[in-house]
Amino acid sequence: MPLHPVMITRFSLRLPDSQAGFSVRRPMKQANELIKSLDTLFIKTYGCQMNEYDSARMADMMKQAYGLRLVAAAEDADVILMNTCSIREKAEDKVYSELGRYKKLKDKRPDMIIGVGGCVGQQEGERIQKRAPYVDIVFGPQSYHRLPEMVKEIRRDRVHVSQTDMPEIEKFDHLPKAESHGVSGCVTIMEGCDKFCTFCVVPYTRGAEISRSVEDILDECRDQLAGGTVEISLLGQNVNAYRGPGPDEEEWDFTMLLYAVAELPGLKRLRFSTSHPMEMTSELCQAFAEIPQLMPYLHLPVQSGSDRVLKLMHRGHDRETYFRIINELREHCPDIALSSDFIVGYPGETDEDFAATMDLVERVGFDSAYCFKYSPRPGTPASKSEDNVPEDVKDERLQRLLTLTREQARLAMQAQQGKTIDVLVEKDGRRAGDMEGRSPDYKIVHFRGQHRQIGQVMAMSIVEAYGQSLRGELILADS
Ligand code: SAH
Ligand code: SF4
Ligand code: F3S
Repeated sequence: MPLHPVMITRFSLRLPDSQAGFSVRRPMKQANELIKSLDTLFIKTYGCQMNEYDSARMADMMKQAYGLRLVAAAEDADVILMNTCSIREKAEDKVYSELGRYKKLKDKRPDMIIGVGGCVGQQEGERIQKRAPYVDIVFGPQSYHRLPEMVKEIRRDRVHVSQTDMPEIEKFDHLPKAESHGVSGCVTIMEGCDKFCTFCVVPYTRGAEISRSVEDILDECRDQLAGGTVEISLLGQNVNAYRGPGPDEEEWDFTMLLYAVAELPGLKRLRFSTSHPMEMTSELCQAFAEIPQLMPYLHLPVQSGSDRVLKLMHRGHDRETYFRIINELREHCPDIALSSDFIVGYPGETDEDFAATMDLVERVGFDSAYCFKYSPRPGTPASKSEDNVPEDVKDERLQRLLTLTREQARLAMQAQQGKTIDVLVEKDGRRAGDMEGRSPDYKIVHFRGQHRQIGQVMAMSIVEAYGQSLRGELILADS
């Protein structure tokens, strides 16, 4: 049963014949024949890791359905898809300005197909095609599995298609097997969010929380591992709220799933993102001590250190609860690296509230942090309150928070110097002869190495710390 009103709309294209690429007076070619003329696909991705995952799945799907080959430039593409994000302001503006660029391409090659998907697609729906009539397809994060069908319809019926309904988990049943996409792979385990933080669009763009079945997830992980992936990140906007049907027909929670994934042969490293403090159970904290593959890194957004603001934001916990979780995590995993998200300038945030945020950062100590100025998002409860923290105050708070969190990040990097750590080699580095990998706690490490080491976990000593990365030296087996 659909969880949201179903909105499938098709409206006819009224392109002049000369522009349409094929004339209405000529007999219409079969859709399949027309699709054969499509060869290349370009996908522009904005937003979170879930969008990255979705884009990879779209590429897999279009390759399997129509043999479309991914290209690196929009200029070379027969089909252009934008996978958009609407988490912060100007998102729509960015989409329309990029679309303006694609319009110029389409003016020259009217047969080209342009699609707008993702969270702006979901939010704006047909409004996009009203404003940019050259857009052929609009779709949301829960309906992209229908892309091949939509492309066929466009070619056959010369229509514009907008599909932004949210069928319950149907998407995953219709996607082809995921291809392995390198050493480090992602698997989306749940969709949507039921938390409804007052500032956030995600519950509206991605819909209600829905978890995939354990078997489905394990199958996808197995496929990725068989294709050469050694590290898996389990993804969801609210990943630790996972509650899915297990093979025993009981409901499994996130920690149970973690233990099951960790047992898969070939898995060297396991990560997950993004977690909500309200779903950080003691069992989950303990898993960091008990699952050797689970890496000592956790992104745990807190948004604010002020109890008053946390309440206004509808986050469901106070600062003491956050401290308690951090203490418990550190008891089980003393070296765990923590990262978080912060919003400054939420409506009504006072100097005192902001001081409480700075205090929380000082008390916890984060290895990295993502700091944002509040921006009202359409349709959210907070957007109904006046955005009343002046821009210059927001700027000043952001700068102070950035200064503090960057200093903490620098110290965390420096503390690695002289340590011996295991690095998963991921790719060639930017400098010739350099390779790049990640430490267990997710720091980028450069070292002199070889291409064939990709996929291996190698011990190194850290000889230098830079702002954003480390330099390691391989410890040779015979030394
Ligand atoms: N699901 C995650 C994060 C979702 S979005 C969580 O619950 O924490 C990623 C980050 O964007 C948020 O953590 C928040 O810091 C930021 N963000 C979301 N909406 C925002 C808004 N309206 N203005 C500014 N930052 C926002
Ligand atoms: Fe947005 Fe809150 Fe859900 Fe995170 S938990 S996605 S911030 S509503
Ligand atoms: Fe953006 Fe949607 Fe992800 S709004 S952050 S792309 S869930």
